[in-house]
Amino acid sequence: MTTPPTSELRRGLVLLCGVAIAAAGLVALTWQAAAPRIEANVQARAEAGLAAVLGDTVFDNALAATGYRPQSPAARIAGVEHAWLARRRGEPVGVVLQVATTEGYSGRIVLLVGLTPGGEVLGVDTLAHRETPGLGDFIETARSDWLMQFQGRQLGRPPAERWRVRRDGGEFDAVTGATVTARAVTGALHRALVYFDAEAQALLAGRDPDHAGGSTDLTTGPDPGLLQPNSNP
Ligand SMILES: Cc1cc2nc3c(=O)[nH]c(=O)nc-3n(C[C@H](O)[C@H](O)[C@H](O)COP(=O)(O)O)c2cc1C
Repeated sequence: MTTPPTSELRRGLVLLCGVAIAAAGLVALTWQAAAPRIEANVQARAEAGLAAVLGDTVFDNALAATGYRPQSPAARIAGVEHAWLARRRGEPVGVVLQVATTEGYSGRIVLLVGLTPGGEVLGVDTLAHRETPGLGDFIETARSDWLMQFQGRQLGRPPAERWRVRRDGGEFDAVTGATVTARAVTGALHRALVYFDAEAQALLAGRDPDHAGGSTDLTTGPDPGLLQPNSNP
């Protein structure tokens, strides 16, 4: 006696469902097992990216884990979106600010700037941008050393009226044919320094400047979207 086709179909479907459930379970188990390693990799990448703009600064805290989003009006005006505090034996040795601008040629340019506690620029890196490849992408440290010219500068050095590209009467080199990008980055970095100058005390004490007189520790986790080159968060 032959099995009716409908029952064969049912058995096939049950088998298929079983395989699908087993596969899903396997994927979930694998994911669960890999999750701590993925998280550790994300942390390590964030840590390395942040450390890169702090130059030779030696710190012993989990830098990425100190990140928080400043909420003050000064931060909003400056375009400062994130801040991290590097410490050695409990003492502040550097600050990293994430600053963004929409004054470039296309979309947002997101920068990281590393500062000494005194506000001197240790390093700058571009986290994300949509400037034109081959024209505005000189702001990527892998392509050009254009950002290096900001190292060692600080608020007042040069003075505000000279903190511009040469074309506008300032001290910084631009790239011919792509002054818009250079101007945007130059301006954003100056705004970040103005912000740091205004709120350095609280930042270096490990408090969110928005909590005036408060004591909010900078212990929130890192931005998971951080350090994705050209992701334009
Ligand atoms: C298709 C296209 C893409 C451009 N991309 C950029 C860019 O990424 N960054 C930039 O500063 N200027 C870019 N420009 C040029 C700007 O419109 C502007 O002319 C230039 O920034 C001015 O710089 P300059 O005074 O040194 O010529 C682009 C122009 C065109 C037509």
